[in-house]
Amino acid sequence: MNVTEALNSRYSTRAFKPDPVDRETILKILEAATRAPSWANTQPWEIFVAGGEALERLRQGYLANFKKDVPRKSDLPRPELWIPAHQKRIEELGTKRFGLAGIKRDDKAARQAFSEANAKFFGAPVIIYLCMDRTLTPWSVFDIGMLAQSIMLEAQEYNLGSIPAFMLVSYPELIREELEIPEELSIIIGIALGYSDTQHPQNKFRSPRRDIGEVARFKGF
Ligand SMILES: Cc1cc2nc3c(=O)[nH]c(=O)nc-3n(C[C@H](O)[C@H](O)[C@H](O)COP(=O)(O)O)c2cc1C
Repeated sequence: MNVTEALNSRYSTRAFKPDPVDRETILKILEAATRAPSWANTQPWEIFVAGGEALERLRQGYLANFKKDVPRKSDLPRPELWIPAHQKRIEELGTKRFGLAGIKRDDKAARQAFSEANAKFFGAPVIIYLCMDRTLTPWSVFDIGMLAQSIMLEAQEYNLGSIPAFMLVSYPELIREELEIPEELSIIIGIALGYSDTQHPQNKFRSPRRDIGEVARFKGF
């Protein structure tokens, strides 16, 4: 698979098959992905991979919190407010995804049930948590972002789907306890990994992109 194919075929997988992914494959993906660049080669990432019984315990804990409506609080604070253009895209995405699932926007109960898939980690057999020292700045989050995309692109070499998700890091105290993540590390993002259930309607959805003519400005060409 070439780079352009990998970029164009990646999508956020929201329904995984239960089939396990072996440790060797995950190691190969991480080894390739950690070729990602970072500020002065600091390689600020600390990676924790959850699978098997550890992941199942975590999933149960998440689901229990979700059902009790425990407030979600990631180590990296989530934005309180979006500028109107971003808010509009968020709403458009929601409308499209709920529409696909036959859910009306004002049906709160159905939306809650739909969101439960997040708390169940979309059925993924593996979650990769990317962490970094709490004292670092947004520049290092930038490095973590490049690692995250590298992992997701490389995963495709092994026919594996993935999704990066805020929801996966929304109860950091549960993750920290289960995976023995030291307090001095901030849990930045979780990437669910596994074989995609390609027949699932949520996996048939492809998110749109802004027209590149609107995004990129050129001068001197
Ligand atoms: C930092 C980050 C957090 C995200 N959190 C969630 C999430 O909690 N739940 C979810 O379903 N998708 C989540 N996503 C996936 C985005 O919705 C998705 O990347 C976007 O809609 C573009 O779609 P695509 O990944 O299929 O190209 C997240 C993506 C990123 C980069």
